[in-house]
Amino acid sequence: MNIQYDEQISDYINRIKQRNAENEQSGKISYAHILTFGCQQNEADSEKIRGLLLQMGYRLTDTPENADILLLNTCAVREHAELKALSVVGGYKHIKTAKPDILIGVCGCMTAQEHRIDEIKHRYPYVDFTLEPSQIHRLPELIYRKLNGKRRIFLSCDDKEAYRAVEGFPIDRELSHRAWVSIMYGCNNFCSYCIVPYTRGRERSRNSEDILNEVKDLIAKGYKDITLLGQNVNSYKSDCDFAELLERICELDGDFLIRFMTSHPKDVSDKLIEVFGREKKIAPHFHLPVQSGSDRILKLMNRHYDTAHYLSTVDKLRKANPNVSLTSDIIVGFPSETDEDFEKTVELVEKVRFDMIYTFIYSKRKFTPAAKMEEQIDESVKSKRLARLSDVQESICIEKNKIYEDKTIRVLTDAMSRNQGILSGRTDTNKLVHYEGDESLIGQYVNVHIDRADAYAMYGKIVLDK
Ligand code: SAH
Ligand code: SF4
Ligand code: F3S
Repeated sequence: MNIQYDEQISDYINRIKQRNAENEQSGKISYAHILTFGCQQNEADSEKIRGLLLQMGYRLTDTPENADILLLNTCAVREHAELKALSVVGGYKHIKTAKPDILIGVCGCMTAQEHRIDEIKHRYPYVDFTLEPSQIHRLPELIYRKLNGKRRIFLSCDDKEAYRAVEGFPIDRELSHRAWVSIMYGCNNFCSYCIVPYTRGRERSRNSEDILNEVKDLIAKGYKDITLLGQNVNSYKSDCDFAELLERICELDGDFLIRFMTSHPKDVSDKLIEVFGREKKIAPHFHLPVQSGSDRILKLMNRHYDTAHYLSTVDKLRKANPNVSLTSDIIVGFPSETDEDFEKTVELVEKVRFDMIYTFIYSKRKFTPAAKMEEQIDESVKSKRLARLSDVQESICIEKNKIYEDKTIRVLTDAMSRNQGILSGRTDTNKLVHYEGDESLIGQYVNVHIDRADAYAMYGKIVLDK
């Protein structure tokens, strides 16, 4: 099931590397640029793509115009994401005109759909290749083929390679204190609104040993916060299940926190809840997308749980760890959603009192069952529902964040914010905090006394240890 990528592609990598080295000797440096849209899985894929590019001897540039190879990693989860990607691809036309030798590749979920490949083929003739997520290990092969021939390359969506998990990728990580670790790829759930199972293929879990080695390596390099990624981590299955994988990771020596996303409510086992409550190395944050508070809509969404089951899982999680921060995803305006259904969602949000929710307007995705449902909801109704739900959650967020006022909490510093001299970081519960400080604190834990909180962030001052 799993293949070691070296055996397959080292040869292509070496040939391109040699070519780039020869060019450098004659004074020509080869640059690559990559822009990423979409979820953390896509961010993690881009880190692998960058790793491959570096191995091939490319240097990375933030300026598309300076690049010799230009890559766009796309998302297809909502129409807006695809339109944004297509508009960026449209903008690449003038770059190709000015620099005809540049290679332009579009990768990511959008290019795992036959109709989008056709669109790129015909409407964007300057795109050299497409590369769907399950095929990123073939990037060196594609670049090599393009450098040695004129034909454009569009990898077929139903290529059997899509059903393998590839090991041994070089990874160029964005940060040096937080890291993503994909533990599985794909999704088998086919929620009726969702494109992901079509773009990312069936579930493939990595071997636990490969995951443990990757995490060990990260801890040794000083990473403090590690997030395990999968569309549905609860259905992870190799020689162990997800709860056991977490236990094994927590047994590793070192000062680190482990997170995971996303959990599907139908698959949160009692064993997982028990491990979550017990292990101190697991961050006290649980992202549990509910999607709707109406049982009728949940059924139509093909989610395989009802609100009673969801609420009982929430209770169990809070019993296991009373400090747990709970977050969720919610879709408004799913086909046939009535005012009454929507009110049930609002009631559920008020009942659970999430620490944060990510709200989405339902977006019709071609070939998904929900796209064919009658009674699609009017855009204006969807927008009104989104605004109301956001208002309800905003008040809850304010109340929840205000609890931290006058308290001192541990924060992992992430970056300098746009506001000079102000740092931003995250609590163990994943809440955003701003405080004064300098760049040397990036990647460090600090204790912050919270002076003020609003719905979206907390603001305070660093307190020094006595
Ligand atoms: N595997 C994860 C996340 C999938 S995508 C999960 O099951 O929760 C992230 C979120 O995007 C989903 O949770 C859902 O709320 C939202 N989403 C997915 N498809 C959508 C669509 N067609 N329209 C609007 N929101 C969508
Ligand atoms: Fe999409 Fe559902 Fe799979 Fe999440 S679990 S990726 S929402 S099909
Ligand atoms: Fe988008 Fe693909 Fe992620 S559709 S949300 S990039 S899995």
